[in-house]
Amino acid sequence: MRQVERALIRRLCDHVGEEVELRGWLYNKRSSGKIQFLIVRDGTGLAQAVAVRGSVPDDVWEQCERASQESSIVVSGVVRREDRAPGGYELELTGFRLVHLAEDYPIKLKEHGVDFLMDHRHLWIRTPRQQAILRIRAHVIRAVREYLDGNGFVHVDTPILTPAACEGTTTLFETNYFEQKAYLAQSGQLYNEAAIAALGRVYCFGPAFRAEKSKTRRHLIEFWMVEPEAAFCGFEEILGIQEAFITHIVRSVLSNCEADLRVIGRDTAPLLKVEPPFPRITYDEAVEMLKENGHEIRWGDDLGAPHETDLSSRFEKPLFVTHFPAAVKAFYMKPDPGRPEVVLGADLLAPEGYGEIIGGGERIEDAELIQLRMKEHNLPEEAYRWYVEIRKYGAVQHSGFGLGIERTVAWICCLEHVRETIAFPRLLYRVYP
Ligand code: 4AD
Ligand code: MG
Repeated sequence: MRQVERALIRRLCDHVGEEVELRGWLYNKRSSGKIQFLIVRDGTGLAQAVAVRGSVPDDVWEQCERASQESSIVVSGVVRREDRAPGGYELELTGFRLVHLAEDYPIKLKEHGVDFLMDHRHLWIRTPRQQAILRIRAHVIRAVREYLDGNGFVHVDTPILTPAACEGTTTLFETNYFEQKAYLAQSGQLYNEAAIAALGRVYCFGPAFRAEKSKTRRHLIEFWMVEPEAAFCGFEEILGIQEAFITHIVRSVLSNCEADLRVIGRDTAPLLKVEPPFPRITYDEAVEMLKENGHEIRWGDDLGAPHETDLSSRFEKPLFVTHFPAAVKAFYMKPDPGRPEVVLGADLLAPEGYGEIIGGGERIEDAELIQLRMKEHNLPEEAYRWYVEIRKYGAVQHSGFGLGIERTVAWICCLEHVRETIAFPRLLYRVYP
């Protein structure tokens, strides 16, 4: 093959009339005997390359014929606009090199069952829809960092191997830490609470692990969570930060991921409505609304997935549910001074029935009260000694929250299940591939 300029499919618009080289994989092929239409993908999009028998050298024609679905290939050709071609551009083929001939590819261009696709997740991610979701996920993460870095939050990495629980002892993954026991982090929040006294506003961003026996469309065993935390910040202020944060993420995806949103067929009208202020209801009001709608729920019960689906379907914007009973929330949540049986905590429920994407609120800053709560929750004193200690040297009002990346992507992409929002999901009965 002659040397020609290498191009990306996404940038073919800049090369109309030029001869370029594409490196990628053969997504699909059609042939009319005299003409072969090769659909090439390179990670940035799909393009059609057209080979005409007689116009290309015989060996090139034969290599095109031999190439199977998902073979790796290098093609060259002259770019032209073609509205009927996937991606809108077409290459009039001048050269073709088969890099590796793929074996019979298990994922055909037809419908497959979910179990089959999950067993072949390492190949499934190659399909245009999955690629688009993964690109949107990457953009969500970029927007997350953009907002926090731009608003005075310092990124601090918190440990993955930890001596104790943050979100309840029932969902801990235990590991051997030499002679000791350690647990995979459920959250970095407790460390954030130490870091704010050093840096003011911080966030951690990493994988979180929950050995939760939940087999729902919202639960992963390993998921990614971003957790901002701020000193000298109360309940109202942290809700305002959440509104601005979520609005930034959604707007950024809308303006940067147009093509990918189109690939997955997302109706963007509901996303365009996301702007502050978000509606708020108290837990008490939520329980009343649910009862009116025929749910069997009593004051004091935690909200489950069906409750969240119901509540979040009634509002067009993300919905805050505030002031949960202290008994259903984590030990660190600050009691409402006027009504100590409820906490200054809120869940943010994404609309369109998606449910909780954020949990957070104001924290207990008093050393004695936090110790009392830890006793009530049967938490081991020794492992949390440092967490109490940070409250003895300049304690301040502070608040924070955690946003689950996968649930956020599921909502923004309007997906049925979180399993498609991460390249290799860890689910209750799946650690392969
Ligand atoms: O409500 P959670 O458990 O809150 C915390 O972990 C706090 N320490 C956060 C904080 O205040 N710093 O989790 C926060 C979010 C949830 O709203 C949800 O989006 C996500 O993390 N999440 C999960 N996502 C997928 N699978 C799971 N099993 C999840 N558990 C929580
Ligand atoms: Mg929660």
